[in-house]
This record gives sequence, C-alpha cells and structure tokens, in this order.
Amino acid sequence: MDKFVIEGPTKLKGKAVVSGSKNASLPMMAAAILTDKDVILNNVPNLRDIDTMCQLMLKLGCECEREDKTLKINCANISSDFAPYDLVRKMRASILVFGPLMARLRSAHVSLPGGCAIGVRPVNLHINAIRSMGGDVDIENGYIIAKTERLRGETIYFDIPTVTGTENVMMAAVLASGKTVIKNAAREPEVVDLAKMLKKMGAKIEGEGESVIEIEGVDYLDGVEYTVMPDRIEAGTFMCAALITQSEIEIENAPLFAMDAILDKFVEVGGEYELAENGLIVRGRQIKPTMIKTAVYPGFPTDMQAQFMAVLSLAKGTSIIEETIFENRFMHVAELNRLGANIVVSGSKAVVEGVDRLIGASVMATDLRASASLVLAGLAAHGRTEVLRIYHLDRGYESLEKKLTQLGAKIWREKQ
Ligand code: EPZ
Repeated sequence: MDKFVIEGPTKLKGKAVVSGSKNASLPMMAAAILTDKDVILNNVPNLRDIDTMCQLMLKLGCECEREDKTLKINCANISSDFAPYDLVRKMRASILVFGPLMARLRSAHVSLPGGCAIGVRPVNLHINAIRSMGGDVDIENGYIIAKTERLRGETIYFDIPTVTGTENVMMAAVLASGKTVIKNAAREPEVVDLAKMLKKMGAKIEGEGESVIEIEGVDYLDGVEYTVMPDRIEAGTFMCAALITQSEIEIENAPLFAMDAILDKFVEVGGEYELAENGLIVRGRQIKPTMIKTAVYPGFPTDMQAQFMAVLSLAKGTSIIEETIFENRFMHVAELNRLGANIVVSGSKAVVEGVDRLIGASVMATDLRASASLVLAGLAAHGRTEVLRIYHLDRGYESLEKKLTQLGAKIWREKQ
C-alpha cells in the first residue's frame, strides 16, 4: 500500500489542469452496453475506478481499450450479464451496468454493491424503478437477479433524487417500449452529460438537468464519440488548496457552469477569483468561518464537504458543517483532529473551531474525499504529514501528487 508524505507549510504557485470527470465517465462507460457500435470517450481520467469499470466491461464480453485519455468500448459481442461481487465491492458505481444490461440483454446478474465508509448506500430505488418498468427482479445471495421480456416506459418517482439511480433508469428507458417520466430526478451536471451522450447516440431525452426527465424509448442506439466534461470536484479541491495555503494559482478547464455553489462558498470563506482565458485564477485570503449544509445539485455538493472542512479548520472563528446526504461522511474529522484541528461531531453536524496552525502527523485515509481533505491539511500543516492508505485517493484523483508538486508543494508517494 502507498502513502503520501507531505512537508508543510508550503505556498502554491502556477497552474493546475483539471482532468475529465470520474462521475461522468463511469455511467458513459456503462452506456456503451446499449449499442453494438463503437463508443469513443475522450478526456477520460486515468483513475482506479475507471480501470475497475474497464475490467467489468471486459468481463461482460465487451472490448475496452485505453489510449492516453481516450477509451474505446465496443459491446457488439457482449456475452454475459454477470457483474461479480469481487469487482462490484471495489467500486459501487458498477451498479451502473444494471439499467443498460436490462435494456440491451433483458437480464442482469449484478452483485449488490454493499456499503462503504460513508454509508449503507442502498440501491432500493434503482431496483424498485426497474421492477415498475417490467423487470422481474429478485435478490438472491447478495445478487440482483433480473430479467424482462422488454422494459416498458413508466412514470418513476424517486423519493430521494439519486444520482446513479437517475442514470440507471435513464439508460434503461432509452431502449424501453414507450415513454418514461422520471420525477424528482437528480440534476447533477454529470447526469446531464450522460443524457447529452445518449442523445448523440439517438436517444430521445428531454428535461435533463431538471427534476422531471422524459425519455421516449427507441429500438436502437448508434455508436458515438463524446468528450467527457471536466471534474468539478477536482477543480473545487484545487480551489481549497489555494485557500488553505493562502496562495494564488490558476485552474485550467474548471467547469464553471457546474460550480456555482462551490464558487459561492469559496468567496464566503475569503477566497477571491477571476476568470482566466481557459479557466480560473483563484486566490486564498484570510479564511473566514461559515455555515455549510450539503445538498443535492444545485446545492453545495457533499463531495466537497471534507475538503472545505480542512480549510475551515484554520478559519478565524467557528464554522458549522451539516452533512445531509450520507449518514457517515465525517470519517476525516478524527484524522484532521490528529493534525491539531478542533472539530466536534454531533449527529449530522460538525462544529469546526478554527485553530492557529495544524501540526504534521500520520493520518489514515478512509474514503475518497476524506483522503483529499487530509492532503489539503498536510499542505498547510507545520512539519511532516503522512497520509496512509492513499489507494482511496487514487480512485478519484488523477496524479494528484504530480499536479500539486507542479504547484510547488512538497509531496511524494512512498511504499507504506
Ligand atoms: C453519486 O453516488 C456519486 N457517485 C457520489 O460520489 C456522490 O457523493 C453522490 O452521488 C451524491 O452526490 C457517482 O456518481 C459514481 P445517491 P450515488 O444515489 O449515486 C440514498 C465520489 O466521491 N439512496 O445520489 O451512490 C443514499 O444512501 C462519490 O465521487 C437510497 O437510499 O449517490 C444517499 O444517502 C461518493 N436508495 C442518497 O440517497 C437508493 O436506491 C444519495 O445517494 C439510492 C440512494
């Protein structure tokens, strides 16, 4: 297992280039199941989760080849509907093959994802939706066993606007017979990006990005070449790096159209920014305390909560962070406190009492965004910080240590 070693505090300078979005790439890879033609995805980040999804596509009998930032997937010869536990448990987003398999093969044998550090993460909404579209779905020995004559269009209401649930139903509906209406759909930009790709393949979708999405099923979808949107969470993470080190940096390819809530909070805690030719110039100033409440899009993203908590641990005053999406997404608190932060958790709220300085120590990454939070804290902490189990971070950040080193940070990877 690898660890990151960070010498702090450091100032940052220069430019960071944002990679393609992990959470847009993963559903688009699964969408390749819907056609027997080539699906070419450009700007796909080089991440462990992408590799895991590639392995899953290969297991299904599809081709999946990477050439630099481009993935070519072809499912003409798809030969299996089986998504095994040993792959799905490594990456919960594997559940995204459920909808496409039901649409293309009319059967699916997909392991339940199981929970993860941040929560139980049920997929009941995915299963109920496919059942109401005519899927005959059983749960046996930890697997979803499902089949259908052909899915039919239905009106689906989500009591929680689930992101991958919306994506699964959208991918199931594009080849169903008749019209599907998804009510209380997720509005995340990655859902919109998937819809745009599906429409380029010939799907009939309206309302993506709104709470009601309408899909008219078609009989066939063509191949496509599509460029994945940049990763708004990676961009936001670099903004937090500028804040916590009180530096000015340039962030290239930041998807500003999808970052209102992040930009708004960034300014609220003392950041300054101006538009640059190909992105953003951001400046960290004196960190001010604030209130944060995570919400579904377009609210403040839960995937940015841990990173902002690291920043607020050095604010002049007390902040309150409320996590409303996941039931256990404060695993980074104990580790930040090991670095000298003063954070107390009570239920879904964390009270962050700003301290004058953080002091380097060994800390443990527990999940993807918690890892990012600890790396950010290490950039500002005095002395040496070691972030253990960095494989969590490799799932969702492409070459983070290289990008931070290019900005002047003293960070390197070592065997644990
Ligand atoms: C997506 O996960 C993202 N992953 C997550 O990003 C992100 O944190 C999350 O959306 C929220 O924005 C991908 O897109 C691959 P949900 P997802 O279904 O779809 C409950 C990262 O860091 N729920 O919107 O799994 C669920 O328990 C990852 O990149 C049900 O109860 O999230 C949660 O409390 C972490 N039943 C809430 O809804 C269901 O059937 C939102 O979950 C589905 C979800």
